[in-house]
Amino acid sequence: MRTQIVHPGADNLRYEIRQIVEVANAIAATGAPIRWENIGDPVAKGERVPDWIKEIVTQAAAEDLSFAYSPTKGLVEARAYIAAERNLEGGIQISPEDILFFNGLGDAISTIYSALHPRARVIGPNPAYPTHSSAEAAHAGAPHITYRLDPENGWKPDLADLEAKVVANPDIAAIIIINPDNPTGFVYPEETLAAIVDIAARHDLFIISDEIYSNLAYPGSGMRKLASVIGKVPAIAMRGISKEFPWPGARCGWIEVYNRDQDASFDRFARSLLEAKMLEVCATTLPQKVLPRVMGDDRYYPYLETRVSAYDARARRAVEVLGSLPELILHPARGAFYMTAVFRKGALKADQRLPMPPQVEAIISPQLGEALDARFVYHLLGATGICVVPLSTGFNSDLEGFRFTLLEPDEDKFETVLQDLRDALCAYLASGARKEPARGQLEGAA
Ligand SMILES: Cc1ncc(COP(=O)(O)O)c(C=O)c1O
Repeated sequence: MRTQIVHPGADNLRYEIRQIVEVANAIAATGAPIRWENIGDPVAKGERVPDWIKEIVTQAAAEDLSFAYSPTKGLVEARAYIAAERNLEGGIQISPEDILFFNGLGDAISTIYSALHPRARVIGPNPAYPTHSSAEAAHAGAPHITYRLDPENGWKPDLADLEAKVVANPDIAAIIIINPDNPTGFVYPEETLAAIVDIAARHDLFIISDEIYSNLAYPGSGMRKLASVIGKVPAIAMRGISKEFPWPGARCGWIEVYNRDQDASFDRFARSLLEAKMLEVCATTLPQKVLPRVMGDDRYYPYLETRVSAYDARARRAVEVLGSLPELILHPARGAFYMTAVFRKGALKADQRLPMPPQVEAIISPQLGEALDARFVYHLLGATGICVVPLSTGFNSDLEGFRFTLLEPDEDKFETVLQDLRDALCAYLASGARKEPARGQLEGAA
């Protein structure tokens, strides 16, 4: 090309959660079964969508207007339902005009970061959900700036680290919260949310709160939406139906804009999101038609409770099986359907390995780079077929670890995955450890 066509941020777009799938598929082609614990799609993982939800979708699909465009902001009936439900929960009150529909939150996330002034930065949690961190880094053409979620403190955010970075970097315009969090399953306590709102207020920032899992918080988790503590600080909350219904293939999510009247520049930014959506006309109509009918049905919240208690039980079981390994830090998820295990410093070494058939080793070997947790993840995949996601390369983290899901609906299979994971962890960690005493013995002999 006669001129540079690659965006300077292009190398920041990476989605390891799906990239590892290509390697796993190559292994599957050798005849080895894969156990998919990497992707957060409950339907692909075998959860049954209730018949009553399918009936509502079928009825809506029979209506001609489901095939029409919707208004750019979204169908009035869907926005009115969401605003009314939000207002009943207390906290900030919104109108349907404060809601804007997208083709999934993936679309909302990329629109929001592309619409930001090129110099404005958004600080997010570490570990980071890659759709946010990659889109923000690509927008800035620079690495994503993060604040620490502390695995030694139940994954609570390090607020001193957050505020220090906000102070040190005047380009930071907003703070991302993912609540409940992906990949850790952490649920922000109310006082932590309030403290983040306070930091935003004192430094004149807005907040982006990704609440796609907010209706999948476990009993007793203390889940509060940002709306309940936001006060007068400008903010954008994000929700969707991908995980809740669950209907990820619908590509349906929305943003709720809070306190646009408090800041002219935030108000202009919010309008620019609407203008960007106008260029695309609107989001898909059918899921919006269905939304108030499904969420307003008496069976909806009892159905979510059943799912959530199954995730909660699996999270506790995962801690029972894996939590006693001294090399790991592991906290039970309190919401969503992921857990993250962190390797303690020094637990991983470059010469650790798991045995696997030669034809599988030929696929795995070229994947082994420097990241020690990714080396473990690829050995695990090759040796057991269990596919998880490394923390460092998958979630933009300086921690070593891996994320696995709590989605396997067959409890026997879930138990086998946990036991096999534990055996693989023990064997992998011991494979490096065994060499050390040998070196020590040699030194002793000399
Ligand atoms: C925290 C978070 N936000 C957003 C998304 C994207 O959701 P959607 O299917 O609405 O694009 C996901 C998907 O896994 C997610 O985990």
